[in-house]
Amino acid sequence: MPQPIQSTLFAEPAAVTRRSTNSTTFANNMSLPVHRWFRYSAGFSADWVATEVEKHAARRVLDPFAGSGTTLLAAQAVGAESAGVELHPFVARVAQAKLLWSANVDEFRVRAKKVIAAADDLQPDLSEASDLTVKCFPPESLGPLLALRNALDEYKQGDDIDDLLWLALVAILRKCSPVGTAQWQYVLPGKSKAKVALAFDAFQEQVEIMGRDMALRQSELPSAPQALLSEADVRQPFEIGEGWADLVITSPPYANNYDYADSARLEMTFLGDIASWGDLKPLRQKLVRSCTQQMARYDGHAVLESSPGLDPIRAELAEVYAELAEVRQTKGGKKAYHSMIVAYFDDMATAWQQIRRSTATGGQVCFVVGDSAPYGVHVPVEKWLGTLAIAAGFRDWRFEKVRTRNDKWENRKHRVPLHEGRLWVVD
Ligand SMILES: C[S@@+](CC[C@H](N)C(=O)[O-])C[C@H]1O[C@@H](n2cnc3c(N)ncnc32)[C@H](O)[C@@H]1O
Repeated sequence: MPQPIQSTLFAEPAAVTRRSTNSTTFANNMSLPVHRWFRYSAGFSADWVATEVEKHAARRVLDPFAGSGTTLLAAQAVGAESAGVELHPFVARVAQAKLLWSANVDEFRVRAKKVIAAADDLQPDLSEASDLTVKCFPPESLGPLLALRNALDEYKQGDDIDDLLWLALVAILRKCSPVGTAQWQYVLPGKSKAKVALAFDAFQEQVEIMGRDMALRQSELPSAPQALLSEADVRQPFEIGEGWADLVITSPPYANNYDYADSARLEMTFLGDIASWGDLKPLRQKLVRSCTQQMARYDGHAVLESSPGLDPIRAELAEVYAELAEVRQTKGGKKAYHSMIVAYFDDMATAWQQIRRSTATGGQVCFVVGDSAPYGVHVPVEKWLGTLAIAAGFRDWRFEKVRTRNDKWENRKHRVPLHEGRLWVVD
C-alpha cells in the first residue's frame, strides 16, 4: 500500500527537549513522555502543538479529530484546558487511557506485576483465536499475549488502572508479531519482521516506561488543566459549549483513501472487538468518508446535486467529479473516487458547522491537511476546506505550506505535484 501523505507529516526525529515549530510529524512524539505510549502514525507533533498554544496564548484548545490525544496532552502541558472528539472507539480509548497519566503509579506497578504473575499460570485456549490473530501471532507469541489479556480481565477493578494496563497490552501487540504490521500499513501476514519482542518482556518494559512517564508528568504538572476526550462524531453537536475554544488545532482525515476503520484491525481482532474485516463495516460507515471502501451504495451524484453544505464549492467539485467519473472507466479497479470526494467535502461541511459553533469570537483554527490526486485528478483540498469554513461563518483562511510532495497514488502513475501544510482559519 502506498504510504499515505498524512504519515509523511511525521518524519522528523527530535530530541525530547527540542521545541519544534515546523515539524508536524508524530515520530518525535515517540521520545516524549506519555505521547510515546502508543504509536499512532496518523498523529502530529506534540511539540508543534505546544508551541502554537503558547504562541496564541490559548486558554481553551479543541481538537475535533483528536486521534490519540496529542493536542490534548500538549495543551495540558502548557497550561491550557482542552477538549477532543474522536469517533473511532479503539483510538478514542487509547487517547482516554493516555489522559489517565495522573493515576497512582505505585498501584499501577503493583497491579501490572500481579497481572504478569497471573498470566504466567494461565494456559489460554488458542483455538478460539480469529484467523487474522493466528496469522499475525505464532502460538509461542499468542499464548502469552492471550494469557496477559485474560489476566487483565481477571484483575479488573473498574478503575483508571484497568485502562492503563489495557493500553500497556495493546501498545505491544505489533512489536510481538513477526509479520508485517507497520503502523501505516494494513496488516501484511505475508511479510516478516527482523526484530520481534517477547510478550512478557515487552509488557514489562511498556509498564516501566509508562510508570516512569506518569511519575515525571505528575512531578512536572502537579495541577494539570482539564483535558476531556469524548468518543463522538464531529458532525454532531458535541459536549463543549458554544464559543468554548479560543484555538482549534486538528488534522482531519485526508481525502486520500486511507481506511481509518482498518487502522486498528490487528488490535481490535486480538481483543475480540471484531472477528473479521467485515465487522469493521458499521464503524467504517460512521467515520468521515475519505476512502472508497466507504462508498458502497452511496449516490455521489444525488448528494452533489442536492446537499446544501456543498453550495459554496458545487461548481468546482462537479468538474472534478465528472473528470474522476470518466477517468475511472479507463481503470481496472474502477474506484469510486468521484463519489468519495463528494462525501468527503459534504462531511467536512457539516464538521465545519460544529467547529464554528464551538469556536470563540476572534478564535483561530488550524487544520493540518494535504491535497490529493486520485487517478491523477487534482483535488484542491485546502481551498475547498477554506471555502467551506467561510460558509460556516469564519471570516478568512490562508494556507501555510509545509512541504511539497509527489504522492504515490496508484503506484506513482501520475505526476501531479502535491503538498501538505496548515490551513489557518480565523473568525
Ligand atoms: C489524522 S487523525 C488525527 C490524529 C491526531 N492529530 C493525533 O495526533 O493522534 C484523524 C482522526 O479523525 C478521526 N475521525 C474520523 N471521522 C471522525 C468523525 N466523524 N468524528 C470524529 N473523529 C473522526 C479518525 O478516526 C482519526 O483518528
